[in-house]
Amino acid sequence: SDIATSVAEIISDLKHLEGPLLPILHAVQDTFGHIPNEAVPMIALGLNLSRAEVHGVVTFYHDYRSHPAGRHVLKLCRAEACQAMGGDRLGDRAKRRLGIDFHQTSADGSVTLEPVFCLGLCSTAPAAMLDGAVHGRLDAHGLDTLLAEVGA
Ligand code: FES
Repeated sequence: SDIATSVAEIISDLKHLEGPLLPILHAVQDTFGHIPNEAVPMIALGLNLSRAEVHGVVTFYHDYRSHPAGRHVLKLCRAEACQAMGGDRLGDRAKRRLGIDFHQTSADGSVTLEPVFCLGLCSTAPAAMLDGAVHGRLDAHGLDTLLAEVGA
C-alpha cells in the first residue's frame, strides 16, 4: 500500500540514527497525521523491537495518535494551575458534550479531545487550545461556544 511504501522509506531514512524510534514515529505521524496500525509491525521489524514495545511507546507519548484526528483538535489543560481553576469540571463537561474521553474523537469526526500539560497561560487559567489558538479563562459557557464553533 501507499502507507507501507512511505513507512518503509521513513524507516530506511532514519534507522541509522541513535535512538531512531521516536524520530521515526514523529515522521510517520507528520506524514499521516497519526500512526497507522500497519506501521507498527514494520517499525518493529526495522528496528528489531517487538510490536508490543513499539505500541507501548505510541501509547505512552500522548503526542502520538493511533487514529486519525478529528477535523478539529481541542486541547484542555490538565496541569495544576488550571485544575485549581475548575479545569476538571471543564474536562468533564467537554467529555459529556462530545460523548468521548480524552484521546478520543467524537463520533461525527468533528473534534478530537486531548489533554495538555500547561499551555503557559496559567495566569488566565483554565486554558484551552482549539486548532492551535489559545483561549484563557474558559468557563462552561466559553467551552460551549468553542464547541459550537466547530459544530460539535
Ligand atoms: Fe494550565 Fe499552565 S497550568 S496553562
